[in-house]
Amino acid sequence: MAGPETNKNMIVANWKTYMDIPKAQEWMSIVGEQVSPDGVMIVICPDYITLPVVKGAIAANNYQFLVGVQDVSPYGEGAYTGEVPAKSLSGSASWAIVGHSERRKLFGETDEMIAEKVNQANESNITPIVCVPGSDTPIPPGCNWVAYEPLFAIGTGNPDTPENANQVAKTLKEKYSDRPLGVLYGGSVTSKNVKSYLDHPYLDGVLVGKASSDQDEFIKIVKASQEKI
Ligand code: PGA
Repeated sequence: MAGPETNKNMIVANWKTYMDIPKAQEWMSIVGEQVSPDGVMIVICPDYITLPVVKGAIAANNYQFLVGVQDVSPYGEGAYTGEVPAKSLSGSASWAIVGHSERRKLFGETDEMIAEKVNQANESNITPIVCVPGSDTPIPPGCNWVAYEPLFAIGTGNPDTPENANQVAKTLKEKYSDRPLGVLYGGSVTSKNVKSYLDHPYLDGVLVGKASSDQDEFIKIVKASQEKI
């Protein structure tokens, strides 16, 4: 099954802060040359420093990747020192990860702030992907993409089972049946297990953290995802 706005499986690379500029340049040239977007939609989410590297490589080589950011400010432009408003990102990114569990835990993000971030992203034509640790966490209005990321699975090498991830995705889609909802699974996704998630009908893609920072592993993830099609 595919989420709203696409009939393709989505693969989101969440680079977190694993990459510097030289690594990002190398990653883009190797992955860009070796990966085709057949049947998948690839969204690369660099940090703000490597974002121009990603944008530049896509523009120069016509790589078929989309670009996202890992966060947006809950505020617009103004007296918000250190923030990056969605408006400033709108020419650079079309997607934004919002409310990642690392931001909820380490930076105190609340459901209310996350709802504001969703509003800010939407106003700047950036599609938010809200991360939730389970089906009880609220999904704000205006959000059509969710990543189910159970805490025990993030960065641990201990992923949730595809069956359970599929069940959570089903629950979320039923709970928010008032809107089209794409659901991704995230947490210790690798080239070995990615296909098992994409083969489940309620999952529309995957959000890949650590494994996406390794260019060879990411190429394998994309190729494994395309095998099912
Ligand atoms: P991981 O992270 O793939 O490194 O477990 C996933 C995420 O946090 O988005």
